Formats: sequence, C-alpha cells, structure tokens
Amino acid sequence: MRVAATGIGAHWMADGVFKLLRAGMRGPTRPKADSVEADDAATMAQSRSRPAWAEVDLAAVTHSVRLLVGLVAPAQVCAVVKAHGYGHGAPAVAKAALAGGAIGLAVALVDEGAELRRHGVHGPILLLSECGADAAATAVSCTLTPAVYTAEGVEQIARAARLLGQTTSVHLKVDTGMHRVGAPPADVPALVRAIMDEPILRFEGLWTHLSVADGECAEDRSYTLEQLERFDGVVAEVARQGVHPDIIHAANTAGAIAFPTARYGMVRSGIGIYGYLPGPAAAAAFTAAVGGETLLPALSLKARVVSVRMCDEGERPSYGRMRALPQRSLVATVPIGYADGVPRALFTNGFEVLIGGKRRPLAGMVTMDQIVVDCGEAGDVSVGDAVVLIGRQGDAFVGASEWADRLGTISYEVLVGIGPRVPRVPRAEARADPRVSLVPRAEARAGFRHWLGTIAGPRA
Ligand SMILES: Cc1ncc(COP(=O)(O)O)c(C=O)c1O
Repeated sequence: MRVAATGIGAHWMADGVFKLLRAGMRGPTRPKADSVEADDAATMAQSRSRPAWAEVDLAAVTHSVRLLVGLVAPAQVCAVVKAHGYGHGAPAVAKAALAGGAIGLAVALVDEGAELRRHGVHGPILLLSECGADAAATAVSCTLTPAVYTAEGVEQIARAARLLGQTTSVHLKVDTGMHRVGAPPADVPALVRAIMDEPILRFEGLWTHLSVADGECAEDRSYTLEQLERFDGVVAEVARQGVHPDIIHAANTAGAIAFPTARYGMVRSGIGIYGYLPGPAAAAAFTAAVGGETLLPALSLKARVVSVRMCDEGERPSYGRMRALPQRSLVATVPIGYADGVPRALFTNGFEVLIGGKRRPLAGMVTMDQIVVDCGEAGDVSVGDAVVLIGRQGDAFVGASEWADRLGTISYEVLVGIGPRVPRVPRAEARADPRVSLVPRAEARAGFRHWLGTIAGPRA
C-alpha cells in the first residue's frame, strides 16, 4: 500500500526494484509467445488414446492480450486464468498472457494459484475470492495475493503471514452492486483499519466487480455507472483515511472495453484473452475503439472420423432414433460426446461440424463418447478425416459463441465445459526452452505493484 506520508519511492527502494531497474530488468523476462514448456504440455495433453483433442493457440492468447493491453493503456491487464484457464490449460495460457504484456494473473481458488506456481509461473496471482482458513497458509506460502472482504478473512491471512514470516499483499474487495461477495461499502473503513493494523499485510489493492458491464440496454449501462460512482465514493473514503492502495480495479473484459472510466489502474480480463467478446455491446465498443483488429479465438475442438457407413434414406442413427436421414447418406462416427462437453442439446438445436471444409449436421443424438455426422450422398468423407467442432477449417468457422447461441448460454460455459478427457494440445509444437525464464521468486513476492508503471488513483 502507499501511504501519503512515506511515498511510493521508499517502498520501491526497500524492495530492491531500483536495483533491478539499474540491472536493466524492467519486469519479467517474457516467455516467447509460441514456446511451451514440456511439463505444461504434459498437463495439457492428458490422454491420447482416441483422436479427439482441443488445440490451444497460445500465440492467439498473446495476440489478444497485447490488443487489450493497447486498448486499456495506461491501465494494465490482469489475465483471468481461473477454471483451468477457461478450459484452455492454465499454466500455458498464463505464460502466453504474460508474454502479451499482462502484469499478473487472477484465479478463483488457492489450488489454481498453487498449480501455476508448480509450473513456474512467478508473476503476481490475485485470488478473486477470500480463501478459507484451511487454505490461507498455502495462499501465503505460494505468494498469492489474497482478496479479503471480512474481518475473519483479514485475520486468517495475517495469521498465516505471521506464522510464515512473510509480508503478504492483499486486495480489499467491495460489493458495489454485484451482491455475490465483497464488503458492503459501510464496512470498508473498519476493514482498512484492520489491514493497516497488521504490519505483516500490505494493502495493495482496492477493487470491485461489475455485474452488467456486458449489458446492452440503457438500464444496464446506468447500473454500471452507478456501481462505478459507488466505488469512487469508497476510494475517496479510503483516501480520507490516509490510505492510497497501489492498484484500483473494477472492470472485467466488458467493463474494460465498454466503460473506459472503469479501467482505473488495472482491468481483469478473462474471456477477451481467449479471443471472445462478452456480447454485442462490448463487440460494438471494441470495434469502435480498435478498428480492424480482432481478438483471436484460441481454442479449437477437433477430432477424426473413426468409422463410416452408408445408410438408407429414412434410417435413424443413434439413441432415440431421433432423426430420419433425408436421403441415402454416409454417416461418420466421431469419438467425442457429452462426457467431453458436447451437450445433447446441440443435436436438438441444429448443430453442424466441419469436415472437408463443409458444414455437416449431426445424424442423430449426441452420445456419451461419440457423435454421428450426416455427410450426405456424396460419400466424400473417410476414416481419419479431420473434424472441427470449434474452430476453423478452410473458409468455414464454428465459434464457441455459435455453440452458446444454440444452447442458450454464453461462450464461457462452452469453453469451461470441455471435459477433462479432452487433451489440450498447444498449437505451436511443445518445445522445452531452457532459456525461457520467468520472474525471479523474490520479485514475485513483491506483488502486482512492482509491475505497474503508473500508480492508479480514482477516476478523473
Ligand atoms: C471477479 C472477476 N473478475 C474478472 C472476471 C473476468 O471476467 P471476463 O471473463 O468477463 O473478462 C471474472 C470472471 O468471472 C470475475 O469473477
């Protein structure tokens, strides 16, 4: 935290940053965008006993982060890699995001932060929810940056930090209208005092979360503006207590794009770094802001045909005999099903996969491990042919957002729903590069503020 009386410079010097800067280190050594360390590749590819996999284009993640970094500057981007990096494989995505200029990462669970540390990710890692007493020591020993919003939460982190003798940065979360977690604004002054009374804690961040930043209607927009106004009131109140946290943050991807005043010192972007925009309003604001540039969807869900059979017109393949073939057709079997995150409702809602660069409808109901595809009379599909369920094949493209539209959900749920049996394979071939080094552990301990070029304050 930054206290007006001492100034930020003293802290930076105490933490040795000037020394690092003199030595020419202006931040983390960025991993190359297309490099994947061998152990990350191993966690991404859990099994290869059938031809079905998710290809993860890490260079696309780096590209999208870089675009968002440019868009929100001088604010910084914190890459949200919870839920296994939205289903993409967290350690590799985390490194690709840091390579694109993210200043840190955010996860929901202590276990997720610990996984990143095990895989050599040494950047700051924000915990988005207060962790339970059992997990506090792990959070501190892994040098995660806990969110706090209750007196018990502050006490638990302080106790763990004292036990481990480790100064720990915390970010105080305020509930300005999401009504999920976070301290009510009225509780903030007491929580600020509680944090400041613990010398082992560093009050690094003050933040909130927006509930309808992706909304399209006027009511949603004005609700977001109300949340920001409430949040500004809290920031001002904390300043009146003589406390000036290093980082103020409020925006998710939608907030970062559609509400420039929500950017403060840092935005927490999840869906955007995976190449998707969280709705039409954010998409319109994004296009207006960056012109021709686009985010690049990073994940492709792919498989190969394992069996083909010619069926007569009127045959009804798969469980339930749900659909009569409109003509004599080649039916291709593809080894991926609802156990892998391909919901049965996709069949009901007219889903098509890509084979040979063409859209092909499902021939019958999705099963647990397989789908059947109606390849028509031409019989131009053979065993071994590539199938794309999400991604591009030739000029044709099926996005996670198309799945979401068909399923009445959001691209987030589609991406995180891809099951653990599906190996995540980095698009750039896995290469262990011993020259890639991440941030030294000592620097990681110093937290988010070390990575900030500017100190965030309330909105102008
Ligand atoms: C607290 C918090 N911040 C940021 C995000 C990232 O949101 P998005 O993926 O819409 O950018 C999430 C995602 O759920 C979140 O829970």
